[in-house]
Amino acid sequence: MEKKILFPRVGGFLHGGDYNPEQWLDRPDILEEDVRLMKKAGMNSATLGVFSWSALEPAEGEFHFAWLETVIDRLYENGIYTVLSTPSGARPAWLDEAYPEAMRVDRTGMRARHGGRHNHCMSSPVYREKVAVIDRKLAERFGFHPGVIMYHISNEFSGECFCPHCIERFRAYLACRYDNDIEKLNAAWWTAFWSHRYNNFRQIEPPFSNGENSVMGLNMEWKRFTTWNTNDFMKAEIEVLRGVNPDIPVTANLMRLFEGLDYRKMAPDMDVVSWDNYPAFHNDRETLGETFGETAFQHAVMRSLKRGKPFMMMESAPGLVSWQAVNKMKRPGVHLLACLQAIACGSDSVQYFQWRKGRGSYEQFHGAVVDHLGTDDTRVFREVAEVGELLRKIAPAAGTIVKSKAALLFDWDNRWAIADVKAFSQDSKKYEETCIDIWKAFLRLGVDMDVVGSDEDLDGYDVVAAPMLYMLQPGTAENLKRFVGRGGQLLATYCTGYVDREQLCFLGGFPGDGLKEVFGVVSEEIDSLYPSDRNGIALEDGSRWEVRDYAEVLRVRGARVLGRYTDDFYMGTAALTCREYGQGKAYYMAARTAAEQMTPLFERMLADAGIPVRKLPEGVECHVRSGGAGSYAFYINSTSEQAVISGVTGRDLVTDTEVRGELTLPALGAAVLYTQ
Ligand code: GAL
Repeated sequence: MEKKILFPRVGGFLHGGDYNPEQWLDRPDILEEDVRLMKKAGMNSATLGVFSWSALEPAEGEFHFAWLETVIDRLYENGIYTVLSTPSGARPAWLDEAYPEAMRVDRTGMRARHGGRHNHCMSSPVYREKVAVIDRKLAERFGFHPGVIMYHISNEFSGECFCPHCIERFRAYLACRYDNDIEKLNAAWWTAFWSHRYNNFRQIEPPFSNGENSVMGLNMEWKRFTTWNTNDFMKAEIEVLRGVNPDIPVTANLMRLFEGLDYRKMAPDMDVVSWDNYPAFHNDRETLGETFGETAFQHAVMRSLKRGKPFMMMESAPGLVSWQAVNKMKRPGVHLLACLQAIACGSDSVQYFQWRKGRGSYEQFHGAVVDHLGTDDTRVFREVAEVGELLRKIAPAAGTIVKSKAALLFDWDNRWAIADVKAFSQDSKKYEETCIDIWKAFLRLGVDMDVVGSDEDLDGYDVVAAPMLYMLQPGTAENLKRFVGRGGQLLATYCTGYVDREQLCFLGGFPGDGLKEVFGVVSEEIDSLYPSDRNGIALEDGSRWEVRDYAEVLRVRGARVLGRYTDDFYMGTAALTCREYGQGKAYYMAARTAAEQMTPLFERMLADAGIPVRKLPEGVECHVRSGGAGSYAFYINSTSEQAVISGVTGRDLVTDTEVRGELTLPALGAAVLYTQ
């Protein structure tokens, strides 16, 4: 398998971070020192310009690019490449003063005043025009600079706007989606309910807080529109940059499982996926191993947005952050481990927010590589330099990828629908947590699942878990049917296949759209349990799983019953079933149990699929990257105990030693085993 090198000019991993020289233009000594320190920290990149608009264009039409040129030049001369950002994430005051329409209108209908960031209207023609002007100028000036290796579009796209421009675009979007036929929309949105029928598209308003919030179709389409509109804004920026030099790859920094945007719709328009990773290390809810496990899931989401290609960790805190409820310092050793985890999961970069702490304003105490102390003689700096050193050692792994034979199905539309539906128990829907729990349980078995959308091709996979797939997109059921038919092992759970893409319930029994035949069950009722309620499932082998939150009552139509409820009036009825369908097996888990308990089921699915199970010690993860000349197995021990893993071989690139059979990882230790 070929390697997919993201940055041929760099020839390895990117190590860098957000750099804001515009905050220090009156301190040339500091800017000079930055270059020396960056080299000392083993950094080879800097992200410039993220919030530089007012320094680049201090007044409308007056451009000051010389300072940026000096910085890019100086960095380049010292082997540090630039990720150049467009500045659209925050607006200069002159812009809002002259063009108030650039400021967003919120859900109550109130227009924001100037200030903050990430709060522009995505539809505003004048804002788009002003952004295009500065983007083009930046591209013309720097787009052919040998030091510029990537464009970073705006910053952390998010949010929605209810201004007149957005309303107009929403109506046009709906007209297009429903073929200009209001009756199609009425049918899709079931508007005969509560007399909500529309006569024309002009009557439709987005879900203002004092307006229409009870039409599920409207709520869903507004979310879809917000993604579409944000993506359209991003595409407009990309088009301008590519129009000048199409050879520079573009990315936009995403945020973990951000609820507001369907990242799967945005990823195809960028060359590389990148994201900002800020786990709450050492929190009081979970062990460090659990925090790492969840972070591994987030990395898997990002890696799966562009399968077969490395992604980037665009931001992470070198020390602590400043916005969490409790801003805890990363304990010694955790930084390196977290950075290595990103690489292990398929990132080709370790980048930080931020390089140097500013003196003032909102983020003045946010962690940085260089503290207010201003020296390299700090614990954080040394740990960053250690990362730089390690990235150099493992540089040949850059461009390799994580390939998985197992996938978890996670869908944004589905999450929006579950969040909005008036049913079940409002506080225990937990779609995201359920997916993460199952994903983590597979990781504990040594299986690093991809995280794919419900309309994605499942061809490369042998095991698929599709928890709570409440909404079936057109084609999803067919896709799953084909997957099982050709020998796949599929797991679905309660709340599967209740509604279609318009959130209209399937008639004739859930799971709809032909899935009843695949699973051999019909879900007749669903019980929501209070937090203190419990039921149980008695398995064939005599074991018992605890049920909380949800229990569906099934009619079995051809499936084999593997587990039955132990309590309540539906005691003895089917809770876990399996149906052999085509060459594969379709499991239906009708109730919620902790994913940990379902491990024997996961093992059985993996065994039938021929995917080897490797039980690792608690708190140890393994991720494998391969491509080019070999493969790299990353072992990460996020516990405070030594861990021993047997049955492994390879050259450990961390310690530069040969491992044959047994690998001993110290507390918070890691190894990267290379084999040809
Ligand atoms: C990110 C953002 C950065 C910075 C950072 C602080 O979400 O992109 O600009 O604010 O958070 O943690």
